[in-house]
Amino acid sequence: MDTALADRLLPWYREHRRDLSFRRTRDPYAILVAEVLLQRTRIASGLPYFERFMAAFPTVVDLAAAPEERVLKAWEGLGFYGRARNLHRAAKAVVADHGGRIPGTFARLRELPGIGDYTAGAVASIAFGERVPAVDGNAIRVLARVFRLRGDLTRGDARRGLVGIAADLVPPGEPGTFNQALMELGATVCRPRAPRCPECPLRDLCGAFRDGQPERYPEIPPRPPTPVIRVAFALAQRGGNVLLIRRPEGGLLAGLWALPGGEVGGKRDAGAVLRAALSGLGGGARVDGIAGRVEHTFSHRRWEGVVYRVRISGPLGSREDATWAGPADLERLPLVPFHRRFLERLHGPEEH
Ligand code: ADE
Repeated sequence: MDTALADRLLPWYREHRRDLSFRRTRDPYAILVAEVLLQRTRIASGLPYFERFMAAFPTVVDLAAAPEERVLKAWEGLGFYGRARNLHRAAKAVVADHGGRIPGTFARLRELPGIGDYTAGAVASIAFGERVPAVDGNAIRVLARVFRLRGDLTRGDARRGLVGIAADLVPPGEPGTFNQALMELGATVCRPRAPRCPECPLRDLCGAFRDGQPERYPEIPPRPPTPVIRVAFALAQRGGNVLLIRRPEGGLLAGLWALPGGEVGGKRDAGAVLRAALSGLGGGARVDGIAGRVEHTFSHRRWEGVVYRVRISGPLGSREDATWAGPADLERLPLVPFHRRFLERLHGPEEH
């Protein structure tokens, strides 16, 4: 094991680390929540969610017992909602199979539903002191530069090589501190653009710095352009209520409440999309003009489209995944955020 890196990194971290609420606890559940939440979310944006989530579900037993809708509500606005649903599933497994105690090793954490290498490594090292790596995007960048690692380090052999290097660097005494220090250095000093090399404790070990080209690492494979997909949604209103449906399992934004509708394409024009979305909900649905436009960029696709005003006539059918939501429901339900913004623009935030 090479300790040169840890010997420089740990003192730097003690001096420069940000004082964050999830770093003040050793509660494995809180650490699990934080690590799931902070994947794909910056610390500054994620922290308020973390605090609210812990207030709403203080223990793994509380989380396991909560309806999914409440869990999604606490996640609303964070994106990547699969994370919340996986965390919920993991909590249920902890209660059902582990007596409500978060398992204390990488191997057993990894067996929980939806828990991958990163989360298992982070929780095992930070909460339980196991000597395992936890490499997020920030840590990847630091290691890519120090060791001048080429290739796409997020997958395949290149990824396995990187994790092997990281595993070897983790010191036995303070694995969790080391893993967090590596991520912290990546987030604050070894930044993607304009890294602050003069402030870096690893400068004299860093191959990319020696070459004078830190920004060449890591290699980011070119991304295909984001496809733009047309969407159509319905705005149906009755009294002060608006018709919402719960988005189906397995798709984008699964489990969140939304205006009825979805992607247009192939044989499905906007009319067919709206008819399918509204089926079973009334005698007839008639488009009655355009209420506005919506757009939203996901990580790998962009939605652009129209919200049609729709009148639903005849006696209303009932569907378990549909509701006429009044103002109190809109407050309570987890809503697709760009639909919430659309409704707020339409009526102002107070009344819908
Ligand atoms: N990103 C995600 N988890 C982190 C942690 N524990 N420390 C620093 N950055 C992180």
